[in-house]
Amino acid sequence: MIPNQWYAILESREIKPGRIICFTRMGEKMVAWRDSQGRLTVMSDKCPHRGVALSVGKLTADCIQCPFHGFEFDTSGACKLIPANGRNSEPPRAMHVRTYPTREEHGFIHIWWGAGTDQLPPVPWFESIGPNMVYTTMKDHWASHYSRAIENQLDVVHLPYIHASTIGRGNKTLVNGPITRSESLWPGDHLLSLWVKNEVDQGQKPKRASELAEPGRRPFLQFRFGNLWHNWIADNLRVLAAFAPIDDENTMMYIRYYHTLRVPLLRQLYGWVGSLGNLLIERQDRRVVITQRPYRSDLGIGEILIPGDGPIVLYRKVRRSLIEAAQILS
Ligand code: FES
Ligand SMILES: [Fe+2]
Repeated sequence: MIPNQWYAILESREIKPGRIICFTRMGEKMVAWRDSQGRLTVMSDKCPHRGVALSVGKLTADCIQCPFHGFEFDTSGACKLIPANGRNSEPPRAMHVRTYPTREEHGFIHIWWGAGTDQLPPVPWFESIGPNMVYTTMKDHWASHYSRAIENQLDVVHLPYIHASTIGRGNKTLVNGPITRSESLWPGDHLLSLWVKNEVDQGQKPKRASELAEPGRRPFLQFRFGNLWHNWIADNLRVLAAFAPIDDENTMMYIRYYHTLRVPLLRQLYGWVGSLGNLLIERQDRRVVITQRPYRSDLGIGEILIPGDGPIVLYRKVRRSLIEAAQILS
Protein backbone atom coordinates (compact mmCIF):
# COMPACT_ATOMS: atom_id res chain seq x y z
CA MET A 1 0.00 0.00 0.00
CA ILE A 2 1.19 3.54 -0.71
CA PRO A 3 1.95 5.35 2.57
CA ASN A 4 0.69 8.85 3.34
CA GLN A 5 -2.68 8.53 1.65
CA TRP A 6 -6.32 8.54 2.67
CA TYR A 7 -8.03 5.20 2.05
CA ALA A 8 -11.77 4.54 2.11
CA ILE A 9 -11.91 1.31 4.12
CA LEU A 10 -15.52 0.89 5.26
CA GLU A 11 -18.91 2.51 4.87
CA SER A 12 -20.16 4.64 7.77
CA ARG A 13 -23.30 2.58 8.14
CA GLU A 14 -21.25 -0.54 8.90
CA ILE A 15 -20.40 0.89 12.32
CA LYS A 16 -23.60 1.05 14.34
CA PRO A 17 -23.81 2.73 17.77
CA GLY A 18 -23.10 0.31 20.60
CA ARG A 19 -21.42 -2.24 18.34
CA ILE A 20 -17.80 -3.24 17.98
CA ILE A 21 -16.70 -4.41 14.57
CA CYS A 22 -13.39 -6.00 13.69
CA PHE A 23 -11.89 -6.35 10.23
CA THR A 24 -8.56 -6.53 8.44
CA ARG A 25 -7.42 -3.60 6.32
CA MET A 26 -3.92 -2.62 5.17
CA GLY A 27 -2.72 -6.03 6.39
CA GLU A 28 -3.60 -5.18 10.01
CA LYS A 29 -6.34 -6.32 12.35
CA MET A 30 -8.45 -3.31 13.29
CA VAL A 31 -11.45 -2.57 15.46
CA ALA A 32 -13.97 0.26 15.05
CA TRP A 33 -16.65 1.60 17.39
CA ARG A 34 -18.45 4.81 18.37
CA ASP A 35 -18.63 6.46 21.79
CA SER A 36 -21.84 7.81 23.35
CA GLN A 37 -21.52 11.01 21.27
CA GLY A 38 -21.32 8.99 18.06
CA ARG A 39 -17.62 9.78 17.67
CA LEU A 40 -15.90 7.13 15.63
CA THR A 41 -12.56 5.50 16.25
CA VAL A 42 -10.58 2.99 14.22
CA MET A 43 -7.84 1.35 16.27
CA SER A 44 -5.50 -1.60 16.31
CA ASP A 45 -7.31 -4.73 17.49
CA LYS A 46 -4.66 -5.44 20.08
CA CYS A 47 -4.57 -4.56 23.75
CA PRO A 48 -1.21 -2.99 24.68
CA HIS A 49 -1.25 -4.87 28.01
CA ARG A 50 -1.01 -8.53 27.01
CA GLY A 51 -1.99 -8.60 23.32
CA VAL A 52 -5.62 -9.73 23.52
CA ALA A 53 -8.03 -8.72 20.72
CA LEU A 54 -10.03 -5.72 21.93
CA SER A 55 -12.81 -6.72 19.53
CA VAL A 56 -13.86 -9.51 21.91
CA GLY A 57 -14.25 -6.95 24.70
CA LYS A 58 -17.22 -4.66 25.26
CA LEU A 59 -18.18 -1.01 25.20
CA THR A 60 -18.60 0.95 28.41
CA ALA A 61 -19.88 4.56 28.45
CA ASP A 62 -17.14 6.05 26.29
CA CYS A 63 -14.49 3.37 26.22
CA ILE A 64 -13.74 -0.07 24.89
CA GLN A 65 -13.00 -2.52 27.69
CA CYS A 66 -10.47 -5.28 27.16
CA PRO A 67 -11.99 -8.66 28.12
CA PHE A 68 -8.84 -9.99 29.79
CA HIS A 69 -8.11 -7.62 32.69
CA GLY A 70 -10.70 -4.90 32.14
CA PHE A 71 -8.44 -2.05 31.02
CA GLU A 72 -10.48 0.70 29.32
CA PHE A 73 -9.42 2.80 26.33
CA ASP A 74 -11.14 5.90 24.90
CA THR A 75 -11.54 6.88 21.23
CA SER A 76 -8.07 8.48 21.20
CA GLY A 77 -6.59 5.14 22.30
CA ALA A 78 -5.63 6.51 25.75
CA CYS A 79 -6.02 4.14 28.69
CA LYS A 80 -8.53 5.60 31.15
CA LEU A 81 -8.68 2.80 33.70
CA ILE A 82 -6.50 -0.05 34.97
CA PRO A 83 -8.82 -1.71 37.50
CA ALA A 84 -6.03 -3.68 39.20
CA ASN A 85 -4.23 -0.40 40.01
CA GLY A 86 -7.32 1.10 41.63
CA ARG A 87 -9.82 3.53 40.17
CA ASN A 88 -7.88 6.54 41.55
CA SER A 89 -4.61 5.64 39.88
CA GLU A 90 -3.46 7.38 36.71
CA PRO A 91 -2.75 4.91 33.86
CA PRO A 92 0.70 5.41 32.29
CA ARG A 93 0.71 7.30 28.98
CA ALA A 94 2.51 4.41 27.30
CA MET A 95 -0.56 2.23 27.88
CA HIS A 96 -2.02 3.37 24.56
CA VAL A 97 -3.73 1.64 21.64
CA ARG A 98 -2.66 2.69 18.17
CA THR A 99 -5.45 4.65 16.47
CA TYR A 100 -5.72 5.76 12.85
CA PRO A 101 -6.64 9.33 11.85
CA THR A 102 -10.20 8.93 10.63
CA ARG A 103 -12.72 10.97 8.61
CA GLU A 104 -16.29 10.18 7.75
CA GLU A 105 -17.17 11.78 4.44
CA HIS A 106 -19.52 10.84 1.60
CA GLY A 107 -20.72 7.83 3.60
CA PHE A 108 -17.24 6.30 3.73
CA ILE A 109 -14.84 5.89 6.62
CA HIS A 110 -11.43 7.01 5.46
CA ILE A 111 -8.24 6.36 7.38
CA TRP A 112 -4.91 8.09 6.95
CA TRP A 113 -2.30 5.46 6.28
CA GLY A 114 1.12 6.89 7.02
CA ALA A 115 3.17 9.28 9.02
CA GLY A 116 2.12 12.53 10.61
CA THR A 117 -1.26 13.50 11.92
CA ASP A 118 -0.94 17.30 11.77
CA GLN A 119 -2.19 19.19 8.75
CA LEU A 120 -3.51 16.20 6.88
CA PRO A 121 -4.65 16.93 3.32
CA PRO A 122 -8.35 16.84 2.43
CA VAL A 123 -10.00 13.49 1.88
CA PRO A 124 -10.00 12.90 -1.88
CA TRP A 125 -13.28 12.85 -3.76
CA PHE A 126 -14.81 13.45 -7.18
CA GLU A 127 -16.34 16.89 -6.92
CA SER A 128 -18.73 16.20 -9.80
CA ILE A 129 -20.57 13.71 -7.55
CA GLY A 130 -22.59 16.21 -5.58
CA PRO A 131 -25.08 15.97 -2.71
CA ASN A 132 -27.96 15.88 -5.23
CA MET A 133 -27.00 12.27 -6.01
CA VAL A 134 -28.13 9.20 -4.06
CA TYR A 135 -26.53 5.77 -4.15
CA THR A 136 -26.85 2.07 -3.52
CA THR A 137 -23.75 0.10 -2.48
CA MET A 138 -22.71 -3.42 -3.37
CA LYS A 139 -19.80 -5.00 -1.49
CA ASP A 140 -17.69 -7.86 -2.82
CA HIS A 141 -14.49 -9.64 -1.84
CA TRP A 142 -11.70 -10.16 -4.41
CA ALA A 143 -8.72 -12.44 -3.78
CA SER A 144 -6.45 -9.84 -5.43
CA HIS A 145 -4.05 -7.15 -4.34
CA TYR A 146 -5.94 -3.85 -4.57
CA SER A 147 -3.52 -2.53 -7.24
CA ARG A 148 -4.69 -5.28 -9.61
CA ALA A 149 -8.33 -4.43 -8.97
CA ILE A 150 -7.59 -0.75 -9.68
CA GLU A 151 -5.68 -1.52 -12.86
CA ASN A 152 -8.58 -3.60 -14.08
CA GLN A 153 -10.81 -0.55 -13.85
CA LEU A 154 -8.29 1.41 -15.96
CA ASP A 155 -7.94 -1.38 -18.52
CA VAL A 156 -9.75 -0.46 -21.73
CA VAL A 157 -8.28 -3.38 -23.70
CA HIS A 158 -10.27 -6.03 -21.83
CA LEU A 159 -13.73 -4.64 -22.53
CA PRO A 160 -14.72 -6.67 -25.66
CA TYR A 161 -13.38 -9.89 -24.11
CA ILE A 162 -14.36 -10.05 -20.46
CA HIS A 163 -17.50 -7.97 -21.03
CA ALA A 164 -18.56 -9.21 -24.46
CA SER A 165 -22.08 -9.78 -23.12
CA THR A 166 -22.40 -6.49 -21.19
CA ILE A 167 -20.50 -3.19 -21.40
CA GLY A 168 -18.07 -4.56 -24.02
CA ARG A 169 -20.69 -5.43 -26.64
CA GLY A 170 -20.03 -4.32 -30.22
CA ASN A 171 -16.68 -6.03 -30.81
CA LYS A 172 -14.68 -2.79 -30.47
CA THR A 173 -11.39 -4.62 -30.18
CA LEU A 174 -9.14 -1.90 -31.67
CA VAL A 175 -7.83 0.49 -29.04
CA ASN A 176 -6.99 4.08 -29.99
CA GLY A 177 -4.97 5.87 -27.33
CA PRO A 178 -6.50 6.00 -24.80
CA ILE A 179 -5.94 9.58 -23.73
CA THR A 180 -4.88 9.67 -20.09
CA ARG A 181 -4.19 12.75 -17.98
CA SER A 182 -2.78 13.13 -14.50
CA GLU A 183 -3.23 16.16 -12.28
CA SER A 184 -2.42 16.89 -8.68
CA LEU A 185 -4.14 19.41 -6.41
CA TRP A 186 -1.92 18.97 -3.37
CA PRO A 187 1.26 17.01 -2.55
CA GLY A 188 0.51 13.30 -2.61
CA ASP A 189 -2.75 13.79 -4.52
CA HIS A 190 -3.19 12.45 -8.05
CA LEU A 191 -6.25 12.33 -10.24
CA LEU A 192 -6.05 10.21 -13.38
CA SER A 193 -8.62 10.89 -16.11
CA LEU A 194 -9.25 8.66 -19.07
CA TRP A 195 -11.00 8.97 -22.45
CA VAL A 196 -11.80 5.69 -24.20
CA LYS A 197 -11.63 5.55 -28.03
CA ASN A 198 -12.12 1.87 -28.87
CA GLU A 199 -13.38 0.99 -32.38
CA VAL A 200 -14.36 -2.00 -34.50
CA ASP A 201 -11.27 -3.25 -36.35
CA GLN A 202 -11.74 -2.65 -40.06
CA GLY A 203 -8.08 -2.91 -40.86
CA GLN A 204 -7.23 0.65 -39.77
CA LYS A 205 -4.14 1.38 -37.73
CA PRO A 206 -4.86 2.30 -34.13
CA LYS A 207 -3.97 5.86 -33.23
CA ARG A 208 -1.56 6.61 -30.43
CA ALA A 209 -2.80 8.94 -27.69
CA SER A 210 -0.63 11.73 -29.13
CA GLU A 211 -2.40 11.42 -32.52
CA LEU A 212 -5.88 11.87 -31.05
CA ALA A 213 -7.66 15.22 -30.86
CA GLU A 214 -7.94 16.85 -27.44
CA PRO A 215 -11.02 15.44 -25.70
CA GLY A 216 -13.86 17.92 -25.87
CA ARG A 217 -15.95 16.25 -23.21
CA ARG A 218 -15.77 15.04 -19.63
CA PRO A 219 -13.59 11.98 -18.94
CA PHE A 220 -15.14 8.51 -19.03
CA LEU A 221 -13.12 7.19 -16.14
CA GLN A 222 -11.22 8.73 -13.24
CA PHE A 223 -9.04 7.34 -10.51
CA ARG A 224 -8.03 9.24 -7.43
CA PHE A 225 -5.23 8.02 -5.17
CA GLY A 226 -5.33 6.27 -2.71
CA ASN A 227 -8.29 4.06 -3.72
CA LEU A 228 -11.29 5.72 -5.42
CA TRP A 229 -12.50 5.18 -8.99
CA HIS A 230 -15.31 6.86 -10.91
CA ASN A 231 -17.13 5.93 -14.10
CA TRP A 232 -18.82 9.09 -15.41
CA ILE A 233 -21.62 7.41 -17.38
CA ALA A 234 -23.77 10.54 -17.53
CA ASP A 235 -24.13 13.63 -15.39
CA ASN A 236 -27.00 11.99 -13.50
CA LEU A 237 -25.57 8.45 -13.51
CA ARG A 238 -22.25 7.29 -12.06
CA VAL A 239 -20.51 4.23 -10.76
CA LEU A 240 -17.98 4.69 -7.97
CA ALA A 241 -15.66 2.07 -6.53
CA ALA A 242 -13.52 2.07 -3.41
CA PHE A 243 -10.86 -0.64 -3.37
CA ALA A 244 -10.31 -1.25 0.35
CA PRO A 245 -7.01 -3.13 0.77
CA ILE A 246 -7.43 -6.09 3.14
CA ASP A 247 -3.91 -7.45 2.79
CA ASP A 248 -1.44 -8.22 0.00
CA GLU A 249 -3.74 -10.82 -1.54
CA ASN A 250 -7.25 -9.58 -0.79
CA THR A 251 -9.41 -6.52 -1.46
CA MET A 252 -12.91 -5.51 -0.38
CA MET A 253 -14.71 -3.77 -3.23
CA TYR A 254 -17.35 -1.16 -2.44
CA ILE A 255 -19.20 -0.41 -5.65
CA ARG A 256 -21.80 2.34 -5.63
CA TYR A 257 -24.44 3.13 -8.17
CA TYR A 258 -25.20 6.88 -8.07
CA HIS A 259 -28.26 8.53 -9.61
CA THR A 260 -30.63 11.43 -8.99
CA LEU A 261 -33.97 9.62 -8.72
CA ARG A 262 -35.22 10.46 -5.23
CA VAL A 263 -38.83 9.22 -5.36
CA PRO A 264 -39.21 6.58 -2.59
CA LEU A 265 -39.56 2.98 -3.80
CA LEU A 266 -38.52 3.99 -7.32
CA ARG A 267 -35.22 5.11 -5.88
CA GLN A 268 -34.73 1.74 -4.17
CA LEU A 269 -35.82 -0.20 -7.22
CA TYR A 270 -33.57 1.77 -9.55
CA GLY A 271 -30.65 1.43 -7.15
CA TRP A 272 -31.22 -2.29 -6.78
CA VAL A 273 -31.34 -2.90 -10.55
CA GLY A 274 -28.23 -0.74 -11.06
CA SER A 275 -26.33 -2.63 -8.37
CA LEU A 276 -27.34 -5.96 -9.84
CA GLY A 277 -25.90 -4.82 -13.17
CA ASN A 278 -22.69 -3.73 -11.42
CA LEU A 279 -22.44 -7.10 -9.71
CA LEU A 280 -22.80 -8.95 -13.01
CA ILE A 281 -20.07 -6.82 -14.62
CA GLU A 282 -17.61 -6.92 -11.73
CA ARG A 283 -17.98 -10.69 -11.39
CA GLN A 284 -16.98 -10.96 -15.06
CA ASP A 285 -13.82 -9.06 -14.07
CA ARG A 286 -13.21 -10.88 -10.80
CA ARG A 287 -13.13 -14.35 -12.35
CA VAL A 288 -10.10 -13.34 -14.43
CA VAL A 289 -8.31 -10.69 -12.36
CA ILE A 290 -7.92 -12.93 -9.29
CA THR A 291 -5.67 -15.19 -11.38
CA GLN A 292 -3.08 -12.44 -12.06
CA ARG A 293 0.41 -13.05 -10.69
CA PRO A 294 2.31 -11.54 -9.08
CA TYR A 295 -0.45 -10.32 -6.81
CA ARG A 296 0.97 -6.81 -6.46
CA SER A 297 1.46 -4.74 -9.59
CA ASP A 298 4.47 -2.50 -10.09
CA LEU A 299 6.83 -1.23 -12.74
CA GLY A 300 9.34 -3.83 -13.83
CA ILE A 301 7.40 -6.97 -12.93
CA GLY A 302 8.15 -8.53 -16.32
CA GLU A 303 4.80 -7.92 -18.04
CA ILE A 304 4.98 -7.11 -21.75
CA LEU A 305 2.62 -4.18 -22.26
CA ILE A 306 1.06 -2.65 -25.39
CA PRO A 307 0.10 0.98 -26.25
CA GLY A 308 -3.48 0.44 -25.04
CA ASP A 309 -2.06 -0.28 -21.57
CA GLY A 310 -1.04 3.39 -21.27
CA PRO A 311 -3.34 4.11 -18.30
CA ILE A 312 -1.91 1.13 -16.43
CA VAL A 313 1.64 2.33 -17.05
CA LEU A 314 0.70 5.80 -15.81
CA TYR A 315 -0.94 4.33 -12.70
CA ARG A 316 2.20 2.29 -11.97
CA LYS A 317 4.47 5.32 -12.46
CA VAL A 318 2.44 7.54 -10.15
CA ARG A 319 2.12 4.73 -7.63
CA ARG A 320 5.88 4.17 -7.62
CA SER A 321 6.63 7.91 -7.34
CA LEU A 322 4.28 8.21 -4.35
CA ILE A 323 5.86 5.20 -2.64
CA GLU A 324 9.35 6.62 -3.20
CA ALA A 325 8.32 10.09 -1.98
CA ALA A 326 6.94 8.51 1.21
CA GLN A 327 10.21 6.59 1.72
CA ILE A 328 12.21 9.84 1.47
CA LEU A 329 9.95 11.47 4.08
CA SER A 330 10.15 8.57 6.51
S1 FES B 1 -4.63 -8.02 27.90
FE1 FES B 1 -5.98 -6.37 27.79
S2 FES B 1 -6.27 -5.77 29.81
FE2 FES B 1 -4.80 -7.33 29.94
FE1 LIG C 1 -14.01 -4.87 -16.45
